[in-house]
Amino acid sequence: MLETQIKQLIQRPLTIRNRTLNNRLIFAPMSRLGHVAFRELLADYGQYGLLFSEMSAAKAIPHENRNVSPVFRWRDSERDTLVWQLLGGSPEDMANAARRIEQEGFFGVDINLSCSMSYICRRGMGASLLKTPSLAVDIIKAVRAAVDIPVWVKFRTGWSDSPDLAVDFARYVEDAGADAITFHPRVAPDRRTRPPKWAYITRIKQAVSIPVFGNGNVFDRNDCYRMFTETGCDGISLGRIAISKPWIFAEWNGTFQPNETAWRDVISRYIFLLEKHYDSIQARKRFIKFSKYYCAGFRFGNTLRSNIRKTGNFADIHDVFDRFFDSPLLLNQRPNENLFV
Ligand SMILES: Cc1cc2nc3c(=O)[nH]c(=O)nc-3n(C[C@H](O)[C@H](O)[C@H](O)COP(=O)(O)O)c2cc1C
Repeated sequence: MLETQIKQLIQRPLTIRNRTLNNRLIFAPMSRLGHVAFRELLADYGQYGLLFSEMSAAKAIPHENRNVSPVFRWRDSERDTLVWQLLGGSPEDMANAARRIEQEGFFGVDINLSCSMSYICRRGMGASLLKTPSLAVDIIKAVRAAVDIPVWVKFRTGWSDSPDLAVDFARYVEDAGADAITFHPRVAPDRRTRPPKWAYITRIKQAVSIPVFGNGNVFDRNDCYRMFTETGCDGISLGRIAISKPWIFAEWNGTFQPNETAWRDVISRYIFLLEKHYDSIQARKRFIKFSKYYCAGFRFGNTLRSNIRKTGNFADIHDVFDRFFDSPLLLNQRPNENLFV
């Protein structure tokens, strides 16, 4: 019953500017996680509306070489479903980067107003722009004027726990010409330690007429159903759960049912894809980052994770998993919160 209801909620068409999606679940921007190899893994299972890239420095984008950059890299077949996320603090840099995004043929461009890492905020980028709404608006307007593809804006509640300020900000975003919003209802210094306040998503949705994607702590079908129905959001952006279970979009769309071998299969395929796209040092770094979220799915995920971290080189990771999968799998109902930060 719930399975059918979710499918119906997800599979309603949604128009964003001049493009229509047939699936309202999207993959969130995830730095060091949502790179070309991981996106190829997601594409194996499919059934998402859109994929978002890792955040990318706007200043660098106009000069990047896709054959050299570890971040600004993609497969041609994913361009149609890919929204590239930009991080920057100047309207001019952001507009120049957006032009390159459009030239490369991506679905759209996303403006990051949500990253609250101190080294980003100190440089006047990400969530720090929520402190200077007029500059944020100038950035959105400059990007809007530079491109005709959909312009997306991702932002958080702000630097104080005020839904009224977030609602005002959402209206500025719409008036500045954005086509869609992803809203993550946490205050900026909060690095996912407290639950997101979904009620604020409801407020944002009611305040604007462009599509609003809710984001934050959607981990199972029940969460997905609740976020859609309680907030009225137009779509949902999935972050960590999609890293943990790359088949999640397919599972909730009813085209894939994970069994025990799914957990094993995804690892061998992912190792293969990392080796295809990266050298062994870069591949290992990315695998280790990913493993935190993957291991959160298991009862003894902490031990598995520490064994992975102990490996000296990428090839040894295979052996760790061979040993791990020798024993019966003990899966968690909900991801282990200690690993899921
Ligand atoms: C490791 C990590 C990297 C992230 N990188 C980005 C990023 O590059 N850009 C961005 O807008 N948000 C980034 N986020 C935030 C996610 O997009 C998302 O808002 C957050 O994880 C909450 O959603 P979830 O509960 O579905 O994971 C990142 C989150 C994590 C855990």
